Amino acid sequence: MSNNPIGIFDSGIGGTSIFKEIHVLMPNENCIYLADSKNAPYGNKSKEEILQLSIKNTEFLIGKGSKVIVVACNTATTNAIDYLRETYNVPFIGIEPAIKPAALSTKTKAVGILATKGTLSSQLFHKTADLYARGIKVIEQIGEGIVPLIETGKLDSDEMYALLETYLKPMLEQNIDYLVLGCTHYPYLIPMLTKMLPENVKIIDSGLAVAKQTKSVLSTHNLLNSFVLEPAITLFTNENVDILDAILDHKFEASFLEF
Ligand code: DGL
Repeated sequence: MSNNPIGIFDSGIGGTSIFKEIHVLMPNENCIYLADSKNAPYGNKSKEEILQLSIKNTEFLIGKGSKVIVVACNTATTNAIDYLRETYNVPFIGIEPAIKPAALSTKTKAVGILATKGTLSSQLFHKTADLYARGIKVIEQIGEGIVPLIETGKLDSDEMYALLETYLKPMLEQNIDYLVLGCTHYPYLIPMLTKMLPENVKIIDSGLAVAKQTKSVLSTHNLLNSFVLEPAITLFTNENVDILDAILDHKFEASFLEF
């Protein structure tokens, strides 16, 4: 069983930002990654639709023998993880916007959060914000349009720059000193964001924390792969393989799969 893969899914290619952290932290783990790009973005879908897509992805990964499932999508985690945990007999690791560390560290008492509509409107997000960000101004911004640009290979485009400029403006006017990236597609924007933000504004994303949590869950369940071998890394997309390959810097081989 410990030799079985870590199953990872996202609405598209964004969750590869989590896959990369997992692969660096646990290089001998077998991984299987599912990019449901055909149905991206999840962020504007209803809770029920997000749940049904998360069930479909989970069942695919369980069918491939996944020993744990990483929901590498804030939108799917905040809308579906409770149901998935109740329903399937494998451990799940999810990702949520890192509002807690930002709220604990801010000096200006103002933090910005960029995430999908599905995440920002979820009960789980509000619960976390109420719990940890009391007394802190949280400037929420839906990243409308960002995921479709990334999914179509327009990460480093003028359109992206213009969108980000609009989304950052109200945050900077309200003097944020932390920007929380609440979507697994957004770490790919860090080079552009770093150029756009003043030096005192720090960017927080949860990728490394999720990888560490995955390792800890595997260890607790005695599921860490003890074999030292070349891992099998399998990546599937139901849309454009070239775009998935490019985001992975052509270091892994991805395949098209109808699902
Ligand atoms: N990568 C996703 C997330 O973390 C989903 C984006 C989307 O499909 O809208 O929220």
